[in-house]
Parts: sequence; C-alpha cells; structure tokens
Amino acid sequence: MANDTLTITDNRTGQAYEIPIEYGTNPLRSAHIRAADLRQIRVSDDDFGLLSYDPAFVNTASSKSEVTWIDGDEGKLNYRGYPIEQLAEHSSFLETAYLLLWGELPTEAELAAWVNEITHHTLLNERLKGFMGGFHYDAHPMGMLVGTVGALSTFYPAAKDIHDPECRTRQIVRLIAKMPTIAALTYRHLRGLEYVMPDNELSYTGNFLSMLFKISELRYEPNPVLENALDILFILHADHGQNCSSSTMRLIGSSDADPFSALAGAAAALYGPLHGGANERVLRMLAEIGSTDNIPAYIERVKKGDFRLMGFGHRVYKNYDPRAAIIKQVAEDVFEVTGRNPLIDIALELEKIALEDEYFVKRRLYPNVDFYSGIIYQAMGLPTEFFTVLFAIPRTAGWLAQWKEMLEDDDQKIWRPRQVYTGTELREYVPLEKR
Ligand code: CMC
Repeated sequence: MANDTLTITDNRTGQAYEIPIEYGTNPLRSAHIRAADLRQIRVSDDDFGLLSYDPAFVNTASSKSEVTWIDGDEGKLNYRGYPIEQLAEHSSFLETAYLLLWGELPTEAELAAWVNEITHHTLLNERLKGFMGGFHYDAHPMGMLVGTVGALSTFYPAAKDIHDPECRTRQIVRLIAKMPTIAALTYRHLRGLEYVMPDNELSYTGNFLSMLFKISELRYEPNPVLENALDILFILHADHGQNCSSSTMRLIGSSDADPFSALAGAAAALYGPLHGGANERVLRMLAEIGSTDNIPAYIERVKKGDFRLMGFGHRVYKNYDPRAAIIKQVAEDVFEVTGRNPLIDIALELEKIALEDEYFVKRRLYPNVDFYSGIIYQAMGLPTEFFTVLFAIPRTAGWLAQWKEMLEDDDQKIWRPRQVYTGTELREYVPLEKR
C-alpha cells in the first residue's frame, strides 16, 4: 500500500511522529505498528515514552505466527492454511499435529516415521507411575495432569537444552506420545482401577481408549466409530492461535524453561472455567437446567447477570465457532453407538433460544467448541472432571508448535510486559510504634 505509515501528533508538544505500518498475510486483518515505536513519543528527555495500555491483550499481538489463522467475524479456522473442515474430514490427529509442528502435511514415509516415533514413546517411567499413585483418591484429573507433566521435567533433565533443534524434537515426541498415557492414568486413578499400559498395535486414539477402558480382556478392541470421533475431536482442539494457555506456553518458554515445565503451566491455564474448563461447566449447567421447560427462566437469569451461559461467547469468534458445527455432527455418529445423550436436546433447544434472543444477538454470542464436546464425552462414559484433560491431550500439539515457533523467531526474547504504576510514588518508612 502507498504510504504505509501512521502519523501521530502529540498534542502535548505539537510534535508529529511517523510510524511504519506492517502487515501479516491478510492486509485487512493484520495491519499493525510496533508498540516500541511509541516510545519515541515523549514530552521531555527524561520521559520514558508512550506506552500502550492493553489489559487482557484485547488488541495486542504478542507474536507473529504461521500456525493458525482464525477469522472471528466469518467463523473460519485454518491450520497452516488448511480449513479445519477439510482436516476434520480427511486428516488424522497425528498427521495434523505434524502439520502444526513442521508446517507441511507429511509425505507417506514422513507420516509413517512420525507415527512410529510417537507410538514408541508412550511408556511412562515406573517412578512417574509411583508419583501419580501418590495423589489423593479423588484428586481432580486436571490437577494430576498439571502436576505429572511438571514432574516429567525431573525425568528428562537434558530437555533444558531447548536451543538445540534435535533436543526440542525429542521432547516434542515425548510429550505428544505420553500425554494420552498420563491422561488415561488420571482417569484410572479416579476410578480406582489398575493402570493400563499402552498397546503399540493400536492407533493414537484407539490406544487411548484401550488405556481408559480395558478391563480383563487380552486385547481391547476400540469401537471404530468412537476411535474416529475422538480423532476428529482431537483435530479440532489441536491449536487455536494465541489463546490463554498457548500464550502461557510462550510466556514460560520465553524464559528458556524446559518444555515440560512450560507445558504444565499451559495446562494449568487451560484448567480455568473461562478456557478449557468450560466444557466441564457446560455439562453441569445442562444437568442443572434439567429440562427444556426450564430454559427460558435460565436464560433470563443469564441476562440478569446472575451467571454466564457456559460454552457460549468467544474473544475472537463473533460468529458460529466452526469447531462447534463439526462437533454437533460428530455427536450424532457417537450416539448411534452409545445411545442418545438426553442432554443434547437441552443443548440444542438452549442454542436455538439463545441465538434468537436480543441479548445474545447484540453481543454476538454463539456456541463455542466447549458447548457440545462434553455431551459426546459423557455419552462415551467419561466423567465431567475428565473433560478438560481430553482438551489438553490434543492441545499439546498446538502448545508445542507455538513454543517451537517462538524459539525460532528472532523477534522474540523473554516476555516482560510493562505496567502503568498507579500506587504511591515515594514515602518515608514509618516505624511500627508510630503507625
Ligand atoms: N453468557 C452471557 N453473557 C456473556 C457470555 C456468556 N457466556 N460471554 C460474554 N457475555 C457478555 C458479557 O457479559 C459482556 O456483556 P456486557 O457488554 O453487557 O458487559 C459481553 O458479552 C462481552 O463479554 P466479555 O467478557 O467482554 O468477552 P470476553 O471476550 O472477555 O470473554 C469468554 C470471552 C469466552 C471468556 C466469555 O464469552 C465467557 O465467559 N464465556 C463462557 C465461558 C466459555 O464458554 N469459555 C470457553 C471459551 S472457548 C474455548 C476455550 O477458549 O477454551
């Protein structure tokens, strides 16, 4: 574009500044200035320079990224340029993870090698299993997951060499491979069942189902419909740009922490009910509503501000979350096998009423990824406490892709936001007896 600059006049001094405007891929969705360019705007030599104040980062790009593109107005999501709908239909979770991490779809040989690598790193050190056995009998699975992933860093001290690409790749393989094993163990722990070790003959999600549900049979045969549904759900949850947990991964990673420690932090961020913890809350909400007759009264309470409609609204999407649309279809396939989860009817009616209501229309609040996923997981026989763990497994690929990209980006260094100090500037210490 001609004149890709911004002229700012500081009315305090009358001085004008010209600041370059830069772009990402789509010029209409990525025009930006470098916040550091504002620092030259000063009223005097001892002035620190102008800061931009952006609590909750509503209009601040922390990173340049080639991983995921979201068009919130249109409700579109692409991984590395591929529409999520195409990946959900044609890809597998491990292939999608490869795409997110390495930027291209793998060739047949690359995919086979990648799947083989992941399959052969699924085992956990016996001591780590012992560590997990120490959790209280009713410990929340997400608490166990966060603690156990953090503990992994003590098993792999060499992982600290994060500037060595080969070392990075080793930890990436370990984390993607071991997350389902750790996740399944949190479930077995909660249920008081013996831990089941991985079966290398099964697919990524087939093996996960085996580690969850195997009892005494010699070999667990995963139901292909459920195996496929879980794989699609994993693809849909694999990455989502600079969300709260991915930003946590980058923030911790920016201090050169090892990836296990950074990923434990990212998982902790995911745990919150405004982020990945929402799927658990959606199920509690639907159970509380109990019947479609109670929906209007419930919506009135949401509009009064008593609480939020969980699984609705998104910082970026101001349209239907494309992931929610796909999940809604997957739910029907799963119900063919498991029987219909009656909560789906409450969810469908709730969505219908909310989407017609002026409160939701005006604020552009639509169902997000968490609205329908929990209903599927419940139909598969999984407890609500476990839902966020099911989000964390696939998001591990995205966290690692974001972390890797950050370490390879020369623009990045340790993250250290500024603050606008509003406290007392300076005062003399007052001795205790004089207060
Ligand atoms: N129910 C009712 N009102 C809502 C909701 C909701 N779920 N979400 C936003 N609003 C209202 C909010 O009260 C505000 O109204 P007003 O302008 O009158 O004050 C307006 O919409 C804008 O809300 P906001 O809090 O400024 O929006 P945000 O971008 O900061 O929050 C959000 C995004 C996802 C945290 C929020 O929509 C929310 O709390 N949703 C429920 C929790 C949820 O489903 N989270 C999962 C998000 S998707 C997957 C993930 O990230 O893990």
